[in-house]
Amino acid sequence: MFVRLAQLRLTEFKTFRDAVLPLGDMTVLIGRNSSGKSNALDGLEVLSRLAEGGDIVDSLDSRRVDEGPVRGGIAGCPPHTTDTFSLGCQVTDLDQAESGGYFLIDFDVTIRMRPEPEIVRETLRGISTRLRHTRDPRERVFHTLLQADSSAAGGGSIEARWYNGRPGRDPKASFRSSRLVTAQLPLRLEQATEAERHVAVAAQLVLDTLRGVFHLDPVPHLMRLYVQGRDIRLRRTAENISAVVGHLKNTDPASYARLLQHTQALVDHEISDIEVIRSQLDDLMLALQEDGALTPAREMSDGLLRFIAIATTLLRQGMDLDLSRRDSSDHTATPLLVIEELENGLHPSQASQLLQLVKNATTKSSAQVVFTTHSPALLSALSPEDHQAVVVSSRDRSTGFSKLTKLPELSGYPSLMAQGDLGTVVTSGLLEQKSDDDRDFTEFDRLMGLG
Ligand SMILES: Nc1ncnc2c1ncn2[C@@H]1O[C@H](COP(=O)(O)OP(=O)(O)O)[C@@H](O)[C@H]1O
Ligand SMILES: [Mg+2]
Repeated sequence: MFVRLAQLRLTEFKTFRDAVLPLGDMTVLIGRNSSGKSNALDGLEVLSRLAEGGDIVDSLDSRRVDEGPVRGGIAGCPPHTTDTFSLGCQVTDLDQAESGGYFLIDFDVTIRMRPEPEIVRETLRGISTRLRHTRDPRERVFHTLLQADSSAAGGGSIEARWYNGRPGRDPKASFRSSRLVTAQLPLRLEQATEAERHVAVAAQLVLDTLRGVFHLDPVPHLMRLYVQGRDIRLRRTAENISAVVGHLKNTDPASYARLLQHTQALVDHEISDIEVIRSQLDDLMLALQEDGALTPAREMSDGLLRFIAIATTLLRQGMDLDLSRRDSSDHTATPLLVIEELENGLHPSQASQLLQLVKNATTKSSAQVVFTTHSPALLSALSPEDHQAVVVSSRDRSTGFSKLTKLPELSGYPSLMAQGDLGTVVTSGLLEQKSDDDRDFTEFDRLMGLG
């Protein structure tokens, strides 16, 4: 399972213009309030929903599904005062087992809002595996696998061409502009040539990878209720955590034991076990055996419940998630977990434990994790090598646009890091002092300030 997202492109979306979020095993997104962190993650969510292949307005405004709209709905996607939005991603196939011909696939889509929201441009480009080890990028073979452009506005359709191995003789056809062309394409390809089969595989991989984005947003008060025992695929709110933990206890004692250890490490008093109690109707509720008494989920703290949801998900490396956007047959791509404010509700002393959970979940590329944090303790727990995975979001003062910068690429980074770990540097006021050689760190401070 080595097909995964390598980057998210925020070409024209909310506060972003031409920004790229690189995605590795672990990605840590930091920055001031309103700098664009959640906007970037909304972009990922939008692509994931579009990848289902349904009507774009239904997908983003959720007229049919019970997930609710993406933040701001489809109307909130174009940058203020504009009428279109544009997003893309890069999918990579690390072991090339799945993608047939391509080890990198770029997908981009542009949606215009008026007169009716519709796709006005969509492309799929592949870099052939044939020359993947070449150092010279000019020798790499790019193929435009799919190119869709609409000229007439509001017609409900869009013209698309795709690659079939015969340059200059790409077939073309008309597709509906109310849903992703990439999702409509595999059914339309005759797949008579190898090239067409590769296009179908590439399209399917992009869709499958995007559908694996899972925004874990535990809502403690929903986690305090009894749930049906067979409800074992974790939902985004973690409302069915009791059933998931019950299942874990029966099927994966090793992970269950580690969940217990992590939970024990969280509190000062003695927790001897995590239990799952049953109602008369056979519904389940999580409970802690502590100090000789049983504490059911309905009495647990928000922070503890949130931690149990996150730890369970990470310990299982994203395996028991309700990925209902995927067909049950899709399991080539790694799931990508998105967790906002990872440390929310937890004591600073838990920072390194949380970070360790994330790292363990992402080793061997079994899952990808993107999280945001405002926690200096968590930032301090990052090793210098981890800094490669930190991306700073900031707003340009003159344009108001958000930009994304890898932490080590910020000017002043090397000399600052010589002064202490990241959390200390951010909180200790070191950033306000000019260093001996009179370098000016105000810019660095402004970006990094965790205000
Ligand atoms: N469609 C949009 N166009 C321009 N700005 C937007 C749009 N949607 C949200 N914003 C702005 O984005 C900011 C919020 O960014 P957000 O990503 O939520 O911040 P944070 O980094 O705290 O997560 C607000 O200033 C809001 O006005
Ligand atoms: Mg936010």
